[in-house]
Amino acid sequence: MEVSHNKKEHVMLAIIGGSRLSQLPVLQITHRQIVRTPYGDPSCALTFGLIGARTVVFLARHGYGNSIAPHEINYRANIWALHSLGVRQIVAIASVGGIRPDLTPGQLVLPDDLIDHTWGRKHTYHEGAGVQLKHADFSQPYDPVLREKLIQASGRAQVKLSAGGVYACTQGPRLETAAEVRALAIMGADMVGMTGMPEAALSRELDVPYAAIGLVTNRAASAQSALIDFDMTAIDESVERLQCLLQAFCE
Ligand code: HPA
Repeated sequence: MEVSHNKKEHVMLAIIGGSRLSQLPVLQITHRQIVRTPYGDPSCALTFGLIGARTVVFLARHGYGNSIAPHEINYRANIWALHSLGVRQIVAIASVGGIRPDLTPGQLVLPDDLIDHTWGRKHTYHEGAGVQLKHADFSQPYDPVLREKLIQASGRAQVKLSAGGVYACTQGPRLETAAEVRALAIMGADMVGMTGMPEAALSRELDVPYAAIGLVTNRAASAQSALIDFDMTAIDESVERLQCLLQAFCE
């Protein structure tokens, strides 16, 4: 079912909110819908609304109470639910720890590749008796066209968005050791989070273009600062900037 909701014939957009964004104030809510899937229940009821003239579905990945741990999220149900509603574009927001020196708290970053260090999560639709095997192409995990549209929107909104970087996904819910972050850096990771996978891969399996915006909440653990210091002022400001960017994206 291809759904378009305004005269610009936009495809239906979903925004997945992370731990810093379990609600999206910029969304003018119209209604909520409970969706069931063959894979169980999504993290929460889906919230429909408008950003400008564009219909958007919002899903709070950790639930509206922010209570579902990264490894406990039913990623398959979340992505299936969005797809079953006609969503054909997903912008996922995810908190990250910055590894690259410029990724300090409050920065917004648009990764272009990822490394998956999660384990034990239900990460594919193509398993089990009678299900057709599929090896989804994942050489470019984030959709280049959608990324480009986000870059253009950031320009229109005059919101700084660091374009490019490798997102490492760890299992959580604990943060990393300093040695783990050093190892991630050697592997080429620029930022680290806990929820980007298998979300991105499941979207690819369903052929839904997916891009992620990382919201840097802290510097990832290092020998200098074993205690992670979340900078709340910078984070709150970046949530505001992020919403301006999303508004421009929906124009
Ligand atoms: N590590 C993993 N995930 C995170 C971090 C971090 O430092 N900050 C926010 N999400």
